[in-house]
Amino acid sequence: MDLKVLRCGIAGSGYAAKFHFEALKRVFGVRVEIEGAYSPNHEHLEQFTSVRNIKAFQSIDELISEVDVVHVCTPPSAHEPIVISALRSNRHVIVEKPFTGYFGDGSIGFNGDDFPRETGLEQALASVRRMIDAEKKSKGKIMYAENWIYAPSVMKEREILQKTRAQILWIHGEESHSGSHSLSYGQWKYSGGGSMIGKGCHPLSAALHFKQVEGKARFGKSIRPMSVSARIHAVTRMQNYSDEKYLRNTYKDIEDFAQVHVVFEDGTFADIFASELVLGGVHNWIEVNTSNHRTICNITPNNAMQTYTPDGKHYSDVYIVEKTETKSGWSSVSPDESWFTGYQHEMEAFYRSAASGAPPESDSTLAADTISTIYAAYLSAEKKGSEVAVPLIS
Ligand SMILES: NC(=O)c1ccc[n+]([C@@H]2O[C@H](COP(=O)([O-])OP(=O)(O)OC[C@H]3O[C@@H](n4cnc5c(N)ncnc54)[C@H](O)[C@@H]3O)[C@@H](O)[C@H]2O)c1
Repeated sequence: MDLKVLRCGIAGSGYAAKFHFEALKRVFGVRVEIEGAYSPNHEHLEQFTSVRNIKAFQSIDELISEVDVVHVCTPPSAHEPIVISALRSNRHVIVEKPFTGYFGDGSIGFNGDDFPRETGLEQALASVRRMIDAEKKSKGKIMYAENWIYAPSVMKEREILQKTRAQILWIHGEESHSGSHSLSYGQWKYSGGGSMIGKGCHPLSAALHFKQVEGKARFGKSIRPMSVSARIHAVTRMQNYSDEKYLRNTYKDIEDFAQVHVVFEDGTFADIFASELVLGGVHNWIEVNTSNHRTICNITPNNAMQTYTPDGKHYSDVYIVEKTETKSGWSSVSPDESWFTGYQHEMEAFYRSAASGAPPESDSTLAADTISTIYAAYLSAEKKGSEVAVPLIS
């Protein structure tokens, strides 16, 4: 069988660029040619491209001109201009989470603790609109790289919802761990917020997706978010925080804990937790309680494999799972982490979609609803948890 060939390039050369590269090697339905990467840090770019034997592009424009699909693996503050340039050149874009946000007013003194959240909501929505407008005029599509939508456990629950036509009554989900490795994460001007956007976007998008799927299965139309109440905290920045050096503690002006209560158009709801305050590895799960079943999707950890060693030194060169503090004692190994997290499945789905023209499950509407809900939630947190309407874009 002759497979369609699609050429791609990666904007960024950090953590996400690396797992995109690995996931691209597992796309089987389309022949992907990874042309190269671009990032403004020439030393890191060279390190990234030379070991992978791909081209180091001199500019983002050069990258866009030579590929069919652009992967946006940059800090969130740099997503929008790349997405818009790529779409204007009729390229498809696979854009990492969070889709976009509000990154301040550009002033040197900008501090994420201080600005009015109403401004954040307005500006984040304006950024979403600019990208969706560019998509409407383009032959390219936005594919929102929310890997949770393609995690096998989440895909299986999607099938269950479609076949049982269950009503989802409530959802709870969480993404937490001991702190992001990225240095730009922790500064609002690059990340557009803290745990709520950086981590909470994952279970939130999965919850929004499940209600879309339920609505389409039962009524032929997505059920969308209506209002939100939220609280946030910055525990590692509190004066009385007892720092034992296990958690990252270098956040400048973001929260490290968030709790979000989303109410949907049909009166059902989802509770989402996100934090940088959890030891013992990544804690990513979502539970769906419905009129005819209950499902718990354990993304990380799961008990597919468990191993015990009395001393972690035996596993010094064995990868166990993301972000555990120790390998001693019992560990829940992820035997193929990118499989369980959905990285490989999202790439396969996006490339099939790019090749066939079929819409991706994780599209610009899901990306837009996630950003609207999160920035409405920041406004709610400013009002100490008062309910705020979620403004929907399309
Ligand atoms: N889906 C997931 O599980 C997951 C995990 C980690 C990160 N992410 C997302 O991936 C994105 C990147 O995060 P990361 O952890 O790789 O960060 P990182 O700091 O490790 O890497 C960011 C890279 O972007 C480059 N860069 C900065 N500005 C750029 C620009 N204008 N053009 C091109 N490159 C630019 C930097 O030089 C660096 O190479 C973020 O949106 C983050 O939220 C997603």
